[in-house]
Amino acid sequence: CGIVGYIGKRQASPILLDGLRRLEYRGYDSAGIALLNGGNTVKIIKRAGRIENLRQAVAEIAPTGEVGISHTRWATHGAPTDENAHPHRDQSGKLVLVHNGVIENYQTLRDQLLAQGDTFESQTDTEVLAHLVGRYFEASDEKDGASRLRNALKAALAKVKGTYGIAVMHADVPGVIVGARLGSPLVVGLGDGEHFLASDVSAIVAHTRDVVYLNDHDIVSLSEDQYDVTSMDGGEAQVKVSRVEFTADDAEKGAFPHYMLKEIFEQPNSLRNAMRGRLSRDDGTAILGGLNMTPQELRGVDRIILSGCGTAFHAAMVGEYVIETLARVPTEVEIASEFRYRNVPADKNTLQFVLSQSGETIDTLAAMREARRKGIKCLGIVNSVGSTIARESDGGCYIHAGPEIGVAATKTFTSQVMIMTLLGMLFGRIHHLSSADGMEMIDELEAIPDKIASILTQTDRIKAIAEKHANAEGMLFMGRQANYPVAMEGALKMKEISYIYASGHPSAELKHGVIALVKPDMPSVFIAPDDAVFDKNVSNIEEVLARKGPVICVTTEGRTELERLTDDVIYVPDCPSYLSPLLTVIPLQLLSYYTAVARGCDVDKPRNLAKSVTVE
Ligand code: G6P
Repeated sequence: CGIVGYIGKRQASPILLDGLRRLEYRGYDSAGIALLNGGNTVKIIKRAGRIENLRQAVAEIAPTGEVGISHTRWATHGAPTDENAHPHRDQSGKLVLVHNGVIENYQTLRDQLLAQGDTFESQTDTEVLAHLVGRYFEASDEKDGASRLRNALKAALAKVKGTYGIAVMHADVPGVIVGARLGSPLVVGLGDGEHFLASDVSAIVAHTRDVVYLNDHDIVSLSEDQYDVTSMDGGEAQVKVSRVEFTADDAEKGAFPHYMLKEIFEQPNSLRNAMRGRLSRDDGTAILGGLNMTPQELRGVDRIILSGCGTAFHAAMVGEYVIETLARVPTEVEIASEFRYRNVPADKNTLQFVLSQSGETIDTLAAMREARRKGIKCLGIVNSVGSTIARESDGGCYIHAGPEIGVAATKTFTSQVMIMTLLGMLFGRIHHLSSADGMEMIDELEAIPDKIASILTQTDRIKAIAEKHANAEGMLFMGRQANYPVAMEGALKMKEISYIYASGHPSAELKHGVIALVKPDMPSVFIAPDDAVFDKNVSNIEEVLARKGPVICVTTEGRTELERLTDDVIYVPDCPSYLSPLLTVIPLQLLSYYTAVARGCDVDKPRNLAKSVTVE
């Protein structure tokens, strides 16, 4: 879900709509805006479907107003209909509210409000919250409108169990927007005679790059020329003005037909950014200052836990292979959503990393909080600067991939894998790798971006293969060692954007069950680079071909013998096997992209998905 608010001297609706458009990747089943136009009335327009539906409605109605809040929704409670879209009103119709997150006790609160005579227009938890805030507002006799609204919100939130990022305004207090957060991000944008409130900086970066990230329990009131942050838990609010690293142009797709394709093509550069300043030729090692750990502390680490969800989970799985190979430190991957409900053995010598593009995924955040509660040191591998995980972790490193808008993660996967490799190198060098080994690794790492660029020149071939198999009923992805997680990632991309059912497996597992699925309209994609298990993969390919299953192969340049087995061979440049996931995943990203395009799917906004899931 996404929130955008504006207060200033300009017309709010174009600013809100542009902000929503930039947030659409976060959730897109319905959207709405509310405007105050000074006349003590509030105008709400909301529509099911894409932001475009809302934009057309706003263009027809042409509402005016210099204060407004808006929302794009990813349904949790209630179907994606006009009624369930935000903003929601209170009983008086004068208070409007937008909300990200989930109110867990909304049914109880709703029953209480119903008993008091309230009537509801939707099935959402958010409308219940609007009514509750409205009741506290009505009951208050405070003179100052801003503090009346703020205290009403505070009183209502004291009754609420759940998570929220909220923006609220009231027709009787026309010069004010109040916001609050707990577990769902919110950022204030500072302008000249104007202020913004958003769930993600990309919504407002076209207008200002000076922002204040709110912390959990913060409540903020905004007027044209003031912002005031306090903490609802009684402590002092930590207010720090930050400068956004990227510009609005960085978040545009330019000449590319889709963000996903643009982001696939950005990988040579995003990987250079992930490495920049982090490779030391003097010592043949990686420098990751953000870990905030001395060499002695690093040497004391005898176990590493890696956690994440979705694509980040797959990057963590590659991490397990790479770190254990290079550093021989026992490494465990725990899906973030499971970690918090398990009691994973760990002690003071365990180090945990959480991987997250957005830095806001609630499952990952909760895993981190659970780890820290148990005294495990927890570091973040995050893309989004200033995000909750980045701020709450004990340190970490940014992957510096720049904004990723396509819902299907691409460049952030390779950048996360890159950081995993740097960690392997760092830990390897304090244990048993020689400086010569380290130096050689640096050469190999620095060659990766150009190798990816060379894979990207083969898009026509990959497109043709994708089109040939675009009507497949399902697809199997197979790989061994560090390319097993790559197979899982390839399958995830395929499912997410083309809606072809796909699954990823260790190649050898084929004969233990998956082979039952092999048939002419079920292609198998083998990731079989020239490594120690190449011949084993070839045997598995033969097993599939013998059962009339089509095979697509990703292999290393020079391994032309595979062309005797199948027409559909895609080559990647040679590299050491611990780095091969960085190359082999690229054709898989392109394969899913072109398959989805051939099937007429909405690549950047696949159905039912959201880029950042801030609910459990
Ligand atoms: C969602 C997205 C996935 C993403 C996952 C983790 O499910 O649809 O593409 O990999 O969240 O997101 P994060 O921001 O934590 O990396």
